[in-house]
Amino acid sequence: ALVSMRQLLDHAAEHGYGLPAFNVNNLEQMRAIMEAADQVNAPVIVQASAGARKYAGAPFLRHLILAAVEEFPHIPVVMHQDHGASPDVCQRSIQLGFSSVMMDGSLLADGKTPSSYEYNVDVTRTVVNFSHACGVSVEGEIGVLGNLETGEAGEEDGVGAAGKLSHDQMLTSVEDAVRFVNDTGVDALAIAVGTSHGAYKFTRPPTGDVLRIDRIKEIHAALPNTHIVMHGSSSVPQEWLKVINEYGGDIGETYGVPVEEIVEGIKHGVRKVNIDTDLRLASTGAIRRFLAEHPSEFDPRKYLAKTIEAMKGICLARYQAFGCEGMA
Ligand code: G3H
Ligand code: 13P
Ligand code: NA
Ligand code: ZN
Repeated sequence: ALVSMRQLLDHAAEHGYGLPAFNVNNLEQMRAIMEAADQVNAPVIVQASAGARKYAGAPFLRHLILAAVEEFPHIPVVMHQDHGASPDVCQRSIQLGFSSVMMDGSLLADGKTPSSYEYNVDVTRTVVNFSHACGVSVEGEIGVLGNLETGEAGEEDGVGAAGKLSHDQMLTSVEDAVRFVNDTGVDALAIAVGTSHGAYKFTRPPTGDVLRIDRIKEIHAALPNTHIVMHGSSSVPQEWLKVINEYGGDIGETYGVPVEEIVEGIKHGVRKVNIDTDLRLASTGAIRRFLAEHPSEFDPRKYLAKTIEAMKGICLARYQAFGCEGMA
């Protein structure tokens, strides 16, 4: 059944687990997420970005999620708008039947320019007001995602700030987090602790100075009833990078957020963990390998089935590591 994010995150907090929130753009991703959830009886958050809506079209995305609910009626599913850039976008998502929206007011509506605190509160408060009136949950964001060492926002072509960022912008302070939650009434709070979107998060396996799990602990201590969201939380599996590069790909040395660091965050209030890149890497690796090994094959179902299998492996591993097994 379709449920609101608040219901699911409250349950997660009560039972001490975290939920991966996978981005969905197509049938294969949806199948991987749902089949894995069904296998371990885990609840599901699927989220769609503006890019997903542009790629699949709003009605296709909506029906993809409705199809998931129809095929797996025993699994609670949240349909979440990822990085809504304005109140209008969030309103449109609610009309489409989403049960949760993110108003990302940390950036202006261009999705590139860091905003003022006042702007962020204003747009987020607006979305909280109209969403709560119809039982839809709201995620807000305070702080700008970026690499604490280089000041890079990460994602070169997608969601993320343009230009260099300051250390203060990229590390959410406890004071700002508390003030923002009180000023907006969000159900879930995304914070910046050194992660960034895309495959190029860290140039070496991250240490405590560039991945600030300690800040999550401080914010959780100050806001024990607020559900914390980690964006940019793909782990960038080295084994999939190897497969991609072995079969004609070209991805430079890079590291993601180690699963054990996310698990540490979950012990301290992290309830939603956003993952997109890992599914992209797994499906690309699976396609490259299959086509290289079967050069005469041309039925898309053959190689797309391999992507489902590969993505399902990631989904299963995250449901298990984050403690979602049996929680549906
Ligand atoms: O937050 C970014 C997500 O990975 C979505 O990426 O905008 O390319 O769909 P996208
Ligand atoms: P990744 O790029 O690390 O998968 O992050 C996805 C995300 O934060 C979507 O909002
Ligand atoms: Na989100
Ligand atoms: Zn994100």
